[in-house]
Amino acid sequence: MASPIKFAHIVLKTAQYRVMVDWWAEFLEGKVRFGNDFLSFISYDDEHHRIAIAGLPHLQEPDKKSWGLEHFAFTYDSLESLLEQYERMKSRGITPYLTIHHGMTISAYYADPDGNQVETQVDVMGMDEADAFMHGPLFAENPIGRLMNFDTLVDRMKSGESLDSMTDYLTAR
Ligand SMILES: [Fe+2]
Repeated sequence: MASPIKFAHIVLKTAQYRVMVDWWAEFLEGKVRFGNDFLSFISYDDEHHRIAIAGLPHLQEPDKKSWGLEHFAFTYDSLESLLEQYERMKSRGITPYLTIHHGMTISAYYADPDGNQVETQVDVMGMDEADAFMHGPLFAENPIGRLMNFDTLVDRMKSGESLDSMTDYLTAR
């Protein structure tokens, strides 16, 4: 048995290099650990690069019908941190195209300047609970989730609503 010990990084190639580097550094509240005219390594934790951006000016926009990556996701340590990220990006005019309670996670999906899709999420179930949820009737009936309004969620958090109530799947709104 030799599984990897962790997922290390993603490299995005782009024709709008500076725009993408700035967007991703902002999005992750990260730091460009190394950057030159066509390659930047962005880090926000103990990994030297989680996202790297490669600038290749000749690239063309991919066909929407191409197969491949749908989205990738970053987990935050708490609902509060997830909403902080949401508000920080919103203050810069960047809002998610989808905010949803998946049952296992509460998630916000963003598109970067190239249209790459990225999810920010917080886990609201442990592994066993998530397994049970995904094998249960609610997931069979609706494997996508229930839409949530993050502005409302921010207000609910500020009003002192309990975490249990805010993360409850059946009353997600
Ligand atoms: Fe996802």
